[in-house]
Amino acid sequence: MDKKLVLNNENDTILLAENIESEKFPNMVIVLNGELGSGKTLFTKAFAKAMGIDDNVTSPTFTIIKEYYNGELPLFHMDVYRLEGEADSIDFDYYYNKNGVTIIEWGDTIKEYLPEEYLELNFKILTENKRVVYIKPIGEKYENLCGEI
Ligand SMILES: Nc1ncnc2c1ncn2[C@@H]1O[C@H](COP(=O)(O)OP(=O)(O)O)[C@@H](O)[C@H]1O
Ligand SMILES: [Mg+2]
Repeated sequence: MDKKLVLNNENDTILLAENIESEKFPNMVIVLNGELGSGKTLFTKAFAKAMGIDDNVTSPTFTIIKEYYNGELPLFHMDVYRLEGEADSIDFDYYYNKNGVTIIEWGDTIKEYLPEEYLELNFKILTENKRVVYIKPIGEKYENLCGEI
């Protein structure tokens, strides 16, 4: 079942990321959707920090994929906004099976390249500091996880 959460400020978004991070497992995939400025990168930064990654995690808009190996698990942070017709050039399955966590900003633009199971977060801007997020688990593993968050 989808969950709806109101995020009243940045800290609520950070707490959500920390909460989901605490349920992480190898080959976890998280898809972040929502307009520019809705908090996808902020969520990823907080998730990375909770994993023990101390790099400054920035949006990989121009590089598409950034890989971090100094946390509890590898983290693959993708922003596929500018990928358009070139998704074929990326071996997504390689990342999905590398025993890390894959976070994909704008994943809804590459639906046919997503794995069978993943956690989808759909962010919407309500006001300058308020967001709403709809949490949609795809697959049994993620449904169970959603019971914990
Ligand atoms: N509740 C909130 N959750 C997330 N970001 C927020 C919130 N309130 C304000 N912001 C601001 O909105 C911006 C979100 O930017 P970013 O995470 O880069 O979005 P996206 O990656 O979705 O384009 C940041 O400047 C952040 O400080
Ligand atoms: Mg972003």
